[in-house]
Amino acid sequence: MKLYVVIVLLFLGNLIAQAQPSIIAHRGFSFVAPENTVASAQLAWQQNADAVELDIYLSKDNRVVVIHDNNTKRTTGQDYKVAETSADVLRTLDAGLWKGEQFKGEKIPFLEEIIATVPDGKKMVVEIKCGVEVLPALQQVVDRSGKKEQLIFIAFGWEIIAATKQMFPENACYWLSGSAADVQGKLEDAAKIGLDGINLNYKIVDEKTVEQAKALGLEVLSWTVDDPEEARRLVKIGVTGITTNRPDLMKNSL
Ligand code: G3P
Ligand code: CA
Repeated sequence: MKLYVVIVLLFLGNLIAQAQPSIIAHRGFSFVAPENTVASAQLAWQQNADAVELDIYLSKDNRVVVIHDNNTKRTTGQDYKVAETSADVLRTLDAGLWKGEQFKGEKIPFLEEIIATVPDGKKMVVEIKCGVEVLPALQQVVDRSGKKEQLIFIAFGWEIIAATKQMFPENACYWLSGSAADVQGKLEDAAKIGLDGINLNYKIVDEKTVEQAKALGLEVLSWTVDDPEEARRLVKIGVTGITTNRPDLMKNSL
């Protein structure tokens, strides 16, 4: 093959590689599996997701547990407030059955159990749903995991994401928002406190916001996108991470 053909192919390959967003499986492969469980994470890895997103709270006895809501009703059928319940009680609940008989017995995971599933070269996006009280326990889990460099942190709360970045300065941290007005007011602050970017509801992501963020050195990720057409729009304007319930669909169509 002629040298110039090789150079052109390398150049095009590089362009294509740059345009590939990270596909982040929202609560694992939650379209088919019970969200925020080990089964859901493992199914996401089977789909070759680039990352798995999950949500954390702190239990009454200071264990970091993986669950989206502040109580257990929706995903286990039993009504306990996570922050007021100790882990041994939370672990008796079935967090799989609501999604199908085949998932019966899935527990509310400890964060360390889900981190242990992360393959080499993949990332885990940890959304902190509670306040700064979780940080000492989170630090212990992260330090013991042996996978610290594979972890990314996100949160809607400003105080918690700022404190998380201080605690883990080498890990990427993104502020979450679903409000265009809030984003306008916080972009410069996000850059000032050293955040790596913002992670926005796809409905408020437009070209102008991405340009403003990029000008401040901030990356833009987005959630929760299950329509490949919409994902293509986002990638075209510069979004680098697509959080989706359908990693299968996104991996095959982007
Ligand atoms: O990845 C961000 C997204 O998960 C935020 O919304 O409600 O699904 O935690 P939620
Ligand atoms: Ca989440």
